[in-house]
Amino acid sequence: MTQTLDDQLVGAVEHDISTDQFPIKGWDHVRFYVGNAKQAAHYYSTAFGMTCVAYRGPEQGFREHAEYVLTSGGATFVFAGGVRADSAATQHYAKHGDGVIEVALEVPDVDANYKFAIANGAVGVEEPHDLTDEHGTVRIAAIRTYGETRHVLIDRSKYSGPHLPGFAARGPIVERTTGPKRYFQAVDHVVGNVELGKMDEWVQYYEKVMGFTKMAEFVGDDIATEYSALMSKVVASGTRKVKFPLNEPAISKKKSQIDEYLEFYESPGVQHIALATNDILASVDAMRANGVEFLDVPDSYYEDPELRARIGHVRCEVEELKKRKILVDRDEDGYLLQIFTKPVQDRPTVFFEMIERHGSLGFGKGNFKALFEAIEREQEQRGNL
Ligand SMILES: [Fe+2]
Repeated sequence: MTQTLDDQLVGAVEHDISTDQFPIKGWDHVRFYVGNAKQAAHYYSTAFGMTCVAYRGPEQGFREHAEYVLTSGGATFVFAGGVRADSAATQHYAKHGDGVIEVALEVPDVDANYKFAIANGAVGVEEPHDLTDEHGTVRIAAIRTYGETRHVLIDRSKYSGPHLPGFAARGPIVERTTGPKRYFQAVDHVVGNVELGKMDEWVQYYEKVMGFTKMAEFVGDDIATEYSALMSKVVASGTRKVKFPLNEPAISKKKSQIDEYLEFYESPGVQHIALATNDILASVDAMRANGVEFLDVPDSYYEDPELRARIGHVRCEVEELKKRKILVDRDEDGYLLQIFTKPVQDRPTVFFEMIERHGSLGFGKGNFKALFEAIEREQEQRGNL
């Protein structure tokens, strides 16, 4: 398999998926249930530079939700809002606030993947079935993961429509005239927060049910600050295109950011989605100008001689990173630049990360402490520390 530019952006490795027990081509889409899909679609268009390409709702005879499909490069997001009090999205929103209901993966053979998953302990949500319209047929199934989150398995090789059967093509919500053409090109990783003591169970779940392998391990002291701590392990698909870090709270002096998430989301769920960009400086400038709020980083982070020595030479002056509060980390394979948004809804739950990889396959381990101290300052302001 030859590597595409997008593969390099997300740190994918050469790997033949036909040898996998649970082959995955890549991400298909991430679907949110939100309180107001029309406004969410506008926000992600203006603030994150996404482009609306499809829609379904009452106008298409779909009487449960209004759903907007937005893309940026190879990444697809769906924002679904209920149009009635008893719609699935309305019910989900009432409990969790805006959040991710589906992390959908593209697979070559839905039936084979589903069968393997169920035989290895997965709980089925939807058995494999066809969805058809004038653009062709999609084969689809779904299994449960942490909280109320699901993994949808999709084979869209016989489908040419704008998203899934039932969706109508539609144009962009806003006309963008400034900034980079795209703020990000692909989804890099999706992080889940699970209950205290459950991280290893979920790691094993992904190993057994989806044939994932452990990629990295960050435990205990690596990511503890004075007050809060968490434990995190990462599982990934064969190509490493699909990477799932899993966090659990660790015992600490005060409430950790994972505890805060679990309390306000009312269950385990997706904590953050990392978006791969090839120009984090330009993207962050544009996003900030469009009103996206990023976590603050103290100037001392950039002035620390230890950090300067550790990161060595990167593609821009450290001053440029400092100006934008972009973090940098280096490991044996290379380095990465990253920045985290503040939560993107009223509850202190889901947020996004922008990541620009230069060889590094890591997740910014060296930044965990600086990052968590920044999050704790925010938690303190919310009275949740
Ligand atoms: Fe991340």
